[in-house]
Amino acid sequence: MSESRRQILLTSALPYANGDMHLGHMLEYIQTDIWARFQRAQGHECYFAWADDAHGTPVMLRARSEGISPEQLIARMNEEHKIDFRDFGISYDNYSSTHTDINRELVELIYQRLDEAGYIERRNIKQLYDEQEGMFLPDRFIRGTCPKCGTEDQYGDSCESCGSTYAPTDLINPRSAVSGSVPVVRESEHYFVRLSAFEGVLKTWMSSGALQPEIANKIQEWFTDGLRDWDISRDVPYFGFRIPGTEDKYFYVWVDAPVGYIASFKELCNRAGLDFDHWWKPGSATELYHFIGKDIVYFHTLFWPAMLMGSGFRTPTAVFAHGFLTVDGAKMSKSRGTFIRARTYLDHLEPDYLRYYFAAKLGPGTGDIDLNLGDFVQRVNADVVGKVVNIASRCAVFIQRSFNNKLAASLPDPALYGSFVTQRTAIAAEFEGRNFQAAMRLIMALADEANRYIDEAKPWQRIKQEGELTAVHGICTQGINLFRVLMTYLAPVLPFTAERAAMFLGRELNDWKAIDQPLLDCEIRSFTPLLTRVDPLKIEAIIEDSREAMKALEPAISESTKVLEPLAEEIGIDTFSKVDLRVALIRNAEAVAGADKLVKLTLDLGNETRTVFAGIKSAYEPADLVGRMTVMVANLKPRKMRFGMSEGMVLAASDGSGGVFILSPDSGATPGMRVT
Ligand code: MSP
Ligand code: ZN
Repeated sequence: MSESRRQILLTSALPYANGDMHLGHMLEYIQTDIWARFQRAQGHECYFAWADDAHGTPVMLRARSEGISPEQLIARMNEEHKIDFRDFGISYDNYSSTHTDINRELVELIYQRLDEAGYIERRNIKQLYDEQEGMFLPDRFIRGTCPKCGTEDQYGDSCESCGSTYAPTDLINPRSAVSGSVPVVRESEHYFVRLSAFEGVLKTWMSSGALQPEIANKIQEWFTDGLRDWDISRDVPYFGFRIPGTEDKYFYVWVDAPVGYIASFKELCNRAGLDFDHWWKPGSATELYHFIGKDIVYFHTLFWPAMLMGSGFRTPTAVFAHGFLTVDGAKMSKSRGTFIRARTYLDHLEPDYLRYYFAAKLGPGTGDIDLNLGDFVQRVNADVVGKVVNIASRCAVFIQRSFNNKLAASLPDPALYGSFVTQRTAIAAEFEGRNFQAAMRLIMALADEANRYIDEAKPWQRIKQEGELTAVHGICTQGINLFRVLMTYLAPVLPFTAERAAMFLGRELNDWKAIDQPLLDCEIRSFTPLLTRVDPLKIEAIIEDSREAMKALEPAISESTKVLEPLAEEIGIDTFSKVDLRVALIRNAEAVAGADKLVKLTLDLGNETRTVFAGIKSAYEPADLVGRMTVMVANLKPRKMRFGMSEGMVLAASDGSGGVFILSPDSGATPGMRVT
């Protein structure tokens, strides 16, 4: 915390202006926002600027199908996106669009400099052309039979069945996805950036630590394959910026999209009086970080730095790629109702719940992040509500009732308080390294300690005893102060809860230095609930709404048919009660070598542990199961399996279509409880 004030500019990838925000986008924007808020709380000058990615064929076609102009479409989406971000607590400093004059001027400048330096080449290429629509077809707007494996109805650039990539002109029986007509091959002049000219400087940039190790490895492969020239032009009709000096050529959307990072920040400079050149000149001492998904690494680690180097701008300090969001272990699915729009989530649940869950799962790597809905409810309730918020509510009652909302003049255990403050360095290091998961673990360990302190001090007993009033005052003051430290650490993750906590404490929580001094001898406000438990029924409502929304959008796609088993034969209560069902905590879960369906579970039953092999691998990542509560048949005769003894059975729902859903008790249940 003693280092000098850093100047940091953050961006997230610009969302396409032709679609609604969904939870996959929010994973990235929340990740960036947590980092931005964290940096500001360390006293650094940190900005977060980005925009809508407004150009390209899909935007043009969607506007046309809605019978409005592209400008109208992008203006509407821009408003909607901003409201989604605001309601998720994304603290951006500027949110713009790539369709602005500032961006156009920057794109033209960069292009002109690249051209003058000899990096632009012009040559004719052959492409598929839709004569009915009068347009060249982007790869994704051509469908046909895969030339490698013969699967029908594949995109023009790659086959979803066999995974091969090819040129659209190689497709068998190609069709235009716009008009359905058979496209013809036509020639036109395209503009290219000679990427290979940048190979040396790109390698130098990469070796400066700008990339995560797994990304650096990937790029090494691309270098080995040889850098191909990058096609930066598109023919009219196109929604975008026209290339200067041409009548009918436009910049490919991926040219002006990243320039949108610069343009959005420039808008902020104009508004806030910042020195634009100071931030964007080569060798600038300021820091620039791009948060992106792993699908757009190529653009951000090759094309983009090359464009910047070739046109006299600074390069990114680092590019941070994250993995993809899955829901309940699978790709977000429209028919399963797990393709969840940001707005649908917000209609039912508080943003802080999801922010916490993402933080608890995000690390510095590029692995996918699973939103397990059962685990989400349990984790948020146990950690945020059960541990952290609980500290304040346990202590505030007494401060209010017996001490007129005034804190005591000293702490009974200053060493404990000091140890909470000392953890700041370790927690800050995890935030800085984008290991939010590790940071959350450290914070929750402290929350456990705080609760233990209160458990042992028992203010609720002592308040009834003669002569203990001063002691209770001290204990509760201690508890409130520990809570304040924890909420300060959590404020980047839980901005809304922190805001309410700040009201309660009468102090802002946005400065990590402020906790050097405990709150003593001062008044606080009466406690009002800071965050209530996640209601599992709300999750069902979200899934239901998501299904509905998708139905409205795509009436043609039918849901997969469910194969429900017929009900089993009737039994009496005494037969049922022979089955001893118990709540179990999954202590450990691991894959079983040689059995691709099985997960080996170690189940905690309160006073004993069991090993159970469960056929749930298709639906769950073993690591995601650890810490979850479930229900097991505890008196099932042990069965010897090829991999060991299975000592019971875990309850899970399934239908014939492949889904498996583990049962979990509501939070509050503890291991060993009998289920009847
Ligand atoms: N417009 C481009 C980015 C241009 S940046 C100069 C784009 N847009 S996008 O809307 O498809 O995606 C925006 C960001 O959201 C990307 O970083 C992308 O990886 C991320 N995500 C989109 N779906 C996602 C998930 N399901 N999970 C995690 N991130 C996801 O790409
Ligand atoms: Zn194929």
